[in-house]
Amino acid sequence: MIVLGIETSAHTIGIGIVENNKILANSKKMFPIKDKGIIPAKVAEFHAQNIHKVIKNALNTANIKITDIDAVSYTKGPGIGSCLRIGQIAAKTISKQFNKQIFPVNHSLAHIEITKTLFNLKDPLVVYLSGGNSQILALKQLPFKHYHIYGETFDIGIGNALDNFARAAKLIPSWGSSVAKIAENGRYIKMPYNVKGMDFNFTGILKYSIELLNKNNISDIAYSFQETMFSMICEASERALFLLNKKELILCGGVAQSKRLQEMMNIISKSHNTKFCVASNEFNADNGAMIAIVGEKMLEQNISYNLNEATIDQKFRIDKCEVKW
Ligand code: FE2
Repeated sequence: MIVLGIETSAHTIGIGIVENNKILANSKKMFPIKDKGIIPAKVAEFHAQNIHKVIKNALNTANIKITDIDAVSYTKGPGIGSCLRIGQIAAKTISKQFNKQIFPVNHSLAHIEITKTLFNLKDPLVVYLSGGNSQILALKQLPFKHYHIYGETFDIGIGNALDNFARAAKLIPSWGSSVAKIAENGRYIKMPYNVKGMDFNFTGILKYSIELLNKNNISDIAYSFQETMFSMICEASERALFLLNKKELILCGGVAQSKRLQEMMNIISKSHNTKFCVASNEFNADNGAMIAIVGEKMLEQNISYNLNEATIDQKFRIDKCEVKW
C-alpha cells in the first residue's frame, strides 16, 4: 500500500510517500524565517503557493504517479490554523479528485510513530519537544489505547522559549540552533529552575535570561539558559522512567535535534539500562513521511473517514487520539 502524507502545521511544507513502512520520498520546503518568527497569514500564503511543487517533487522522487497512491493523510493538528487549512484542502482535493481514502493525523503522534518505526520499538517513554509542545508521554490502555501525558509544560513549549530568546538577543536565524551555537563557549550563571513532579515551565527562565541581555556575556546567558531548561526536562524524564520502568526512551520533535540535549538524555538512559533512540534531523524536524506513516497504519486497520470528517483542530491533543495499532 502507498500513502502520501501532507504536513503543514507550521513553517514547513512536508510531503512524504511511504510504501509498507518504507519511506520512498520526504520532500520539504520551508518558509524562510529570518528574524521575525512566524506570521500565520504569510506562512499560509507561502504554503498555498508552493504545496503543489512539493507534492510534484515527492512523486518524482518516489517515481510514482498520484493515481498510484492508495490513500492521502494530512496533519489535522495541533498547529497554526491557517497553515493546517492549506494541507487539509490539498488532501481533500486529492481524495475527491482521484477517489482515494483520506486520514486526518495527529502531528504529535506522527513524531512518535516515525521514531518507533525507524527503530522498531514497542513501548517507549516519549520525550516530545517542539516549538509549541513539550510533553512526557507513554502508552496507556484505558479508557482506550492512547498516549497519556505524564508531564508537560505549564506555559510555553521549549522550542518557542529558545526562539523567543534568539529574537530578543537578535540572533539570526532566530531559533534554537543559533542559541546552541552562541552557547558553545559559555560559562554557567545561576538561573531560575522550575520542575513540579513531571511538569515544568519556561516563562520565568526566559524572562530572566532576556533581562540579563546587555548586562552579562551573551554566550554565558545562552549556555546557562539552554543548559538549565534541558536539565529541567532531564529531571522530569528521569522521574517518569523510574515511575513507569520503561526500557525504551524516545526523544522526538524539532528540539530533539539538539546535540547537547541528546547527550544529556543518553546519559540518563544509560544509567537506567534503557535503550535511547533519536531519529536523524530529517525526521525530527517537521516532515511529511511521519504523516504518511500514521496514514498507512490507519489504512491497515481499516479505519475510514469521509470528507466531512476530514477537519482541522488547532488544539488537537495527543491524549484525545486513539491508537488502534
Ligand atoms: Fe513538529
